[in-house]
Amino acid sequence: MSGRYQAPKGVSEYFPPRSNIFAFVGQKLTAPALAAGYELIELPIFEDTELFTRGVGESTDVVSKEMYTFEDRGGRSITLRPEGTAGVMRAVIEHNLDRGQLPVKLHYRGPFFRAERPQAGRYRQFYQFGVEAIGLNDPFIDAEVIGIAYQGFKSLGLNNFKLEITSLGDSDSRAAHRTDLVKYISGLKLDEETKVRAEKNPLRLFDDKRAEVKAFMKDAPLLLDYLNAESQENFANVQSALQSIDIPFEINPHMVRGLDYYTGTTFEFVHSGLGAQSGIGGGGRYDGLMQTLGGQDLSGIGFGLGIDRVILAMEAEGVVPSDLKYIDLYVIPLGASFRTAAFEMVNRLRQHGFVVEQSFGDRGLKGAMKAADKSGARFSLVLGEAEISSGSAELKDMSSGESVSVTLSALASTLAEKVKASNKA
Ligand code: HAM
Repeated sequence: MSGRYQAPKGVSEYFPPRSNIFAFVGQKLTAPALAAGYELIELPIFEDTELFTRGVGESTDVVSKEMYTFEDRGGRSITLRPEGTAGVMRAVIEHNLDRGQLPVKLHYRGPFFRAERPQAGRYRQFYQFGVEAIGLNDPFIDAEVIGIAYQGFKSLGLNNFKLEITSLGDSDSRAAHRTDLVKYISGLKLDEETKVRAEKNPLRLFDDKRAEVKAFMKDAPLLLDYLNAESQENFANVQSALQSIDIPFEINPHMVRGLDYYTGTTFEFVHSGLGAQSGIGGGGRYDGLMQTLGGQDLSGIGFGLGIDRVILAMEAEGVVPSDLKYIDLYVIPLGASFRTAAFEMVNRLRQHGFVVEQSFGDRGLKGAMKAADKSGARFSLVLGEAEISSGSAELKDMSSGESVSVTLSALASTLAEKVKASNKA
């Protein structure tokens, strides 16, 4: 450790070379969302605290224990967003995005904040990629949303993960289950705090980490057994829609999502190479959320994928591509008087779409060649007196060490051919 200041405890940071993976993952996860028409929504990272207490639910750990909340200079209670769905819903309502064609399909990416105990894969500032499809309840939308996450993971080369799904049913199914669950829980000796939590949302007890509570909840009635005919049919339709696009899944009736707004289809992606923090993404449908936040009574579904954990999962599976930093050409001016010519050439080639770097400062040829080698560039080119006067230079293939003479005026087209050929090799 060097330097006087350190990052706050438990935050995830990305700098080269690992930041290249971060950029790559973001791009790959976004591609299937764009392909399905999910447009970008960019929102503030802080919101009124009440948005989360009402939206996410006071009985959740996220709201009761993990929020970064502070008073701003105007005396307002502000919270750094612990998740994305409540903010998206606030923006949809505030800007009337739900008054046009439905569903409203949005994607977002950015930092989120939870004051959790830091450990591998669990951070206080972490990154999510998320989508939300708002306004219609249709099993094909559920499968579309799940499919976007699945395809994103697959496009990164991930294999050792599984998709778990369940259904929390409609409000009638949940009410029937709640009655029996409350009856069941009333037989348990609970401390005051847990009792209050169970009163707010008895489902939270399934999420309790204490051994005695876990043991007791093992035989508790499961919501999946309480689905009425309509909810059962809906869940069956979601499953066949997933099957129709070859997405494997397992039904996990014990799944508990950590946020209160979920209804109907809920799901999690679990990776086997990550230890305790195995959830690389999760989401589900939320029927009452929009109305709770003062909007229309519209349904929605979405997910949040943990970018930090996805990177750990790729590293665990050994599927991080080795060529994420990509340079076509490294140009070395030979002496101070050729720096302008090199600078112009580099600029021109970049405008042709090549990734080009050049040697700066007054490094000698040996040092500059070393830098070219380290940069990982595919080709290098030295520009000096002889090259300028003859109008040709040696283009060196950095992996084979072979050089070919190229005409400087035709450098862009020659380079294009060479890059193409080395892509095929
Ligand atoms: P979530 O399950 O709380 O859902 O978080 C989604 C994902 O974010 C998790 O599966 C995990 O990969 C990642 N994650 C959560 N907390 C941390 C942490 N402390 N450190 C690292 N990664 C973390 C939501 O946030 C919902 N808003 C998802 C959603 C969208 N549901 C409907 N629409």
